[in-house]
Amino acid sequence: MADEVVKRVRTRHFHNAKQQGIKITGLTSYDMLTAAIFDKAGIDFLLVGDSAGNNVLGYDTTVPVTLDDLIPLTRGVASAVKRAFVVADMPFGSYETSADEALHTAFRFMKETGAHAVKLEGGVRSAEQIRRIVSAGIPVMAHIGFTPQSEHQLGGHVIQGRGETGVEALLADAKAVEAAGAFAVVLEMVPNAAAKRVTEAVSIPTISVGAGPHCDGQLLVWTDWAGLTTGRIPKFVKQYANIAQVLGDAATTWAADVASGAYPAPEHSYDDD
Ligand code: KIV
Repeated sequence: MADEVVKRVRTRHFHNAKQQGIKITGLTSYDMLTAAIFDKAGIDFLLVGDSAGNNVLGYDTTVPVTLDDLIPLTRGVASAVKRAFVVADMPFGSYETSADEALHTAFRFMKETGAHAVKLEGGVRSAEQIRRIVSAGIPVMAHIGFTPQSEHQLGGHVIQGRGETGVEALLADAKAVEAAGAFAVVLEMVPNAAAKRVTEAVSIPTISVGAGPHCDGQLLVWTDWAGLTTGRIPKFVKQYANIAQVLGDAATTWAADVASGAYPAPEHSYDDD
């Protein structure tokens, strides 16, 4: 999609990209500064993921993240982009009990943040919620395979879609979200062959998070991808920078300059007149 001249990425561009074999790019973003940088770089969509739980809010999982946590982060991201499509992630506990609850959550994101779409986890089990949100005019990105909000039920970070039974379940989920009206579907931690079968079986673009090269697009958590995360990084992440090192070096140098009096220099101070 990056090669096309697109003023503002819309859901039709996701559809066209799949038709034309143009790969879609997405990164997470949780603030206006990174959003502006990624937007300028031509990243097609920014996901304000509930991975903010692990990357911003200090939680071990995405489970504690709330709608009120994500609304200000999403507003910051949406305020900073000119081209990228902004997707707001519906947190655990904000959509599962009913289609009405899901729609209420989606309305809050759309009215209070400037996001262009919402994302929610689950295939067959979330189809009713997707149908209701889409019928209200709100685009939905679905998310199947490994779904972090269910990590305790799934037994940890476990690859999904393995074996024929696993692939059949994945296909059923993908077809359910397509039929419910999702404009794209994230496949997380799925073997390459299974992701290929799903990608060929549905008309909506598949977006890989550790689902290999056959998907229609790729999405990564920006803090992993840019080397800001210092803990365990999933196998599927390729690091394109070492931001932790850059910031750490800058902080060490600055502290030394303050101690030695090298900072602030005259050019960093105000004269009396
Ligand atoms: O919250 C998130 O960052 C996500 C992606 C990993 C798909 O849901």
